[in-house]
Amino acid sequence: MDAVSKKNISIRVNGVEHTREVEPRLLLVHFLRDVVGLTGTHIGCETSICGACTIMLNDNAVKSCTVLAVQADGADVLTIEGLAQGEKLHPIQEAFWECHGLQCGFCTPGMILITHQLLVRNPQPTEDEIRHALDGNLCRCTGYQHIVDAVQYAAEAMRRRPMDKRQGKEQSRAKAQRTPR
Ligand code: FES
Ligand code: FES
Repeated sequence: MDAVSKKNISIRVNGVEHTREVEPRLLLVHFLRDVVGLTGTHIGCETSICGACTIMLNDNAVKSCTVLAVQADGADVLTIEGLAQGEKLHPIQEAFWECHGLQCGFCTPGMILITHQLLVRNPQPTEDEIRHALDGNLCRCTGYQHIVDAVQYAAEAMRRRPMDKRQGKEQSRAKAQRTPR
């Protein structure tokens, strides 16, 4: 049988371009973990239910187990590894730490990325809005209240600190998407 024909793709992950030949059936989550070697994005269900594999794809939170790597050709991806600035944790990571928003940590990268999307689009969410934003991400350990507390803590911290360059850009793009043309 003929080998599956591979496609040449290029995806910018956390600001670094990765060009590789991949099989068309390769999932984005496997590209990130097995090809690029960034294992912070977790795999839980592989059926779009748990949200453990959530990443940002061109500023939209997506479940990377439901996207083919070839569909992300030319895209910008942000994973959990891209949030901290060197040794300095991102305020959302600090908030999860401070509020005990994790136990085993398996769901945490996905929870943090979905929180990132929420706070870029809505810097002052209500508790209901937070719970609604997180409803596609499952946690088997925490009972959720500490996660909701962490999101509120992060929202407060992010409102108080000056925006970094990337946040500024993301927020302007989110605003432009909301503005009717
Ligand atoms: Fe992707 Fe569960 S592994 S949603
Ligand atoms: Fe264990 Fe969420 S902290 S699954």
